[in-house]
Amino acid sequence: MTDPKPPLDLTSLFPAIEQIADRRLREQVEQVWQALWAQSEWTDIEAVPTSGSIPYPTVPHNRCILDIALAIADAFEHHHRVRVDRDVLIAAAILQDASKVVEYRPGEDGKVERTELGRCYPHAYWAAHLANQHGIRDDVVHIIITHTPQASRFPDSIEGKILYYVDQLDVIAIHGDDWKKSLHITR
Ligand SMILES: [Fe+2]
Repeated sequence: MTDPKPPLDLTSLFPAIEQIADRRLREQVEQVWQALWAQSEWTDIEAVPTSGSIPYPTVPHNRCILDIALAIADAFEHHHRVRVDRDVLIAAAILQDASKVVEYRPGEDGKVERTELGRCYPHAYWAAHLANQHGIRDDVVHIIITHTPQASRFPDSIEGKILYYVDQLDVIAIHGDDWKKSLHITR
């Protein structure tokens, strides 16, 4: 019998997790990641790609989103006194892409394949589902499920909007720009 896969060192992976002031939320974030990792067919977290079409690794993508999002929160607070909830921002940033480890699996010849779960559900659904099962607050789950452009709606909160736009900007940095502008009149 093979040994079970060791858990991830989440503090090394995302040091900002230590900045989550609410200890319960911090533990829930860790539990969701470990549950996803236990279900995952990957053995090296650094090998998981940003997506099936973006081979760049997801860990530095995710870390960069977190760093930029925290810098934006600092600037909003410094210049405008707009309050950003750091616990919500950090928890959502660490979890929003976590389900990639179960949406994809390593395939033949270094290729990446979608898993059954990745075919059945939209991106981020499984992380949101587990977050909900682990009792994570609804405003964090809302950001996880709405962070992707494929979601049917935008995130409601300032924390979700920061992460939404930062995620898209970071994809431009690592993969290139395929945004299109469409003009329309609204009233
Ligand atoms: Fe994502």
